[in-house]
Amino acid sequence: MRLGICYTLVSAENKMLTDAAKKQGVELEKIVDGEALLEVTEGAGKREYDVILQRSVSYSRSLYLTYYFERHGTQVISSYNAARICGDKMLCSLELAKAGVPTPRTYVAFAPESARQAASRLGFPLVMKPVMGSWARMVHRINDKDSLDAALESREEMGNPWQKVYYLQEHVNKPGRDIRVFVVGDTAIAGIYRHSTEKSGWITNTGRGGTASKCDITPELSEICLRAVKTVGEGIYGVDLMESGNGLVVHEINHTTEFRNSVAPTGVDIPTKMIEYLVKRAKR
Ligand SMILES: Nc1ncnc2c1ncn2[C@@H]1O[C@H](COP(=O)(O)OP(=O)(O)O)[C@@H](O)[C@H]1O
Ligand SMILES: [Mg+2]
Repeated sequence: MRLGICYTLVSAENKMLTDAAKKQGVELEKIVDGEALLEVTEGAGKREYDVILQRSVSYSRSLYLTYYFERHGTQVISSYNAARICGDKMLCSLELAKAGVPTPRTYVAFAPESARQAASRLGFPLVMKPVMGSWARMVHRINDKDSLDAALESREEMGNPWQKVYYLQEHVNKPGRDIRVFVVGDTAIAGIYRHSTEKSGWITNTGRGGTASKCDITPELSEICLRAVKTVGEGIYGVDLMESGNGLVVHEINHTTEFRNSVAPTGVDIPTKMIEYLVKRAKR
């Protein structure tokens, strides 16, 4: 059985995973994405690993490496298909909606004028996000037409064509917190509330100063999260939800989720559960 972990940097999570593997007597071989050199044509590679845990923080590296490894018969967690969908908010919202999972109302536009049309349908405030990104970077709450025009103008000036894909979403009036649930295989293993703070503003990401506290996994919460991840296939995910006036809504599924701030409040050994799952997958 050969297990690998593919990453960009030695983050707190990657260290916790390596330690958890060691404790279980499992070898987790390190694959650093920036050091990879893929022979794509002549004698193009062969299967080396049974399972790879993909934790690259670069979306492009992660997609290419995952495609490459899967093509050689390695199970990658998360799969290429899951990474492609979870890494793009438009695809993820569409899949959630198609599966009947409650999700905030969302439009995608490719030019400022159609983005303004979306805003007139959604009303203000609304939330505009880049389709690719994390840590709430460039996730903006927009309160009126003037702020929307300013945001659109600055996005139009950017060189990156992906920044000109306008993802506009209804603003969910959440109660100063949202929910992150960790799903491993067929189980929602732990959940946290992420609270917004003075430092984080309306944003709750712990990487931005939000704080975490334990959120019990109720049958309702478990059911909605498992239904959400079913759209991208079994694996390891962080499901983000908000408590709206009409119940829970899922706004995204993260395919390489951080968990460093979630072990203490939940009391769940998340990295150990992840390693156990990798071993289980390798035996399949
Ligand atoms: N539609 C929304 N209404 C209210 N708050 C939102 C909405 N969408 C996202 N947020 C808040 O913005 C933050 C980041 O949003 P998210 O979509 O998860 O982006 P990222 O992938 O960057 O984490 C979270 O704190 C979340 O609560
Ligand atoms: Mg998020």
